[in-house]
Amino acid sequence: MAEFSKGLEGIIAAQTQMSFINGQEGILEYVGIPIGELATNSTFEETVFLLWNKRLPKASELDTFNKQLRERYALPAGLQNRLASLPTNAQPMHVLRTMVSALAMHDSDPNSLEIDDVRLKALNILGHAPSIVACFDRHRRGLNFIDPDPSLSFSENFLYMLNGEKPTKAMARAFEICMITHADHGLNNSTFAARVVISTLSDIYSAITAAIGSLRGPLHGGANEGVMHMLNEIKSVEEVESHVLGKLERKEKIMGFGHRVYKAKDPRASELQTLAKQLAEDTGNSALYEKSSKIEEVMEREVASKGIYPNVDFYSATTYHCIGLALDLFTPMFALSRIAGWSGHVIEQLEDNRLFRPAADYIGPHEQPYVAIDKR
Ligand code: ACO
Repeated sequence: MAEFSKGLEGIIAAQTQMSFINGQEGILEYVGIPIGELATNSTFEETVFLLWNKRLPKASELDTFNKQLRERYALPAGLQNRLASLPTNAQPMHVLRTMVSALAMHDSDPNSLEIDDVRLKALNILGHAPSIVACFDRHRRGLNFIDPDPSLSFSENFLYMLNGEKPTKAMARAFEICMITHADHGLNNSTFAARVVISTLSDIYSAITAAIGSLRGPLHGGANEGVMHMLNEIKSVEEVESHVLGKLERKEKIMGFGHRVYKAKDPRASELQTLAKQLAEDTGNSALYEKSSKIEEVMEREVASKGIYPNVDFYSATTYHCIGLALDLFTPMFALSRIAGWSGHVIEQLEDNRLFRPAADYIGPHEQPYVAIDKR
């Protein structure tokens, strides 16, 4: 039998043509294109096309893709009614997970595993998910839903539906860079969850629902909210040093640092750091950026020798705050983008499927007597 690897560390459990990661050197490429190139030059829609088709689109192909996605911004009426009936204190990640699951009930053929159908279902989830988050956020604030605007990009439309006014070009682009940098990342926990579910030949809605459930954990996508809580707890740059050292002494994790694969700075963190710095200056949040930067400095001194560096969640917290998003929308933002990667992996899994069924090493006792209940 194969050796036990706690947390499946180092186990190769799937093949992919989407993300390449070199954790030692801090390199991430989507289909061979460095993440920095895409963050600088691409759009989110083009990046999704790249991930799903393993090549950049021609202009006409991108137009068609945009059109298909924009047709799916509007939610089915039944789903809007459900959203309007949710408790206003529900957590957005629970709402997103539940409503993506509910989308299956608005699909006349939810279980189809024909690849062309699955691609359309993936577009469906990607197009609807921002509307789910925006409508729920407005519902809990007691505001009317805003109809989507199909003349807007994915990023612009989400911010428009959330805030009721069109975002500035700079804000929409900042948000889009977040979407590009979070779109895919190898066999991370939530992607693995999606692939495990689809490997039973279940359906894409179930797979993405499972992935959303995985993503919200604080050791995964939930870390971006943890970072913001920490930044809020630290009242000034002067407090950073003692706060971080205190946590390290108590063996507490510093959210937004460390990674199973990266033993160097996550290249997405570098992209988002540049963005966070600029946005913080533009929005009067420089103190927040300075606290973040000081945390990184202390962590570099204390734990970089163990290969612990900022991950994608660290500077995304400052970025999302400067974009004006509520703290509990940070992880849903990660999910909106990662639907691209999850869906791409669902398709890859279906194209060459084998049921995931690892083994467990039984370490309990054997040959025990059965003791009657009144004798225990
Ligand atoms: N702060 C302090 N110490 C850390 C951190 C951290 N953020 N991350 C790892 N370490 C330490 C551990 O305490 C451990 O030290 P030890 O060997 O002295 O006991 C060592 O580094 C190895 O840590 P593990 O937790 O065993 O590493 P693993 O690969 O299992 O975990 C993980 C990776 C979960 C990301 C971890 O680094 C962590 O908990 N980070 C904080 C949460 C976070 O930011 N998650 C987002 C990750 S990116 C993403 O999912 C999108």
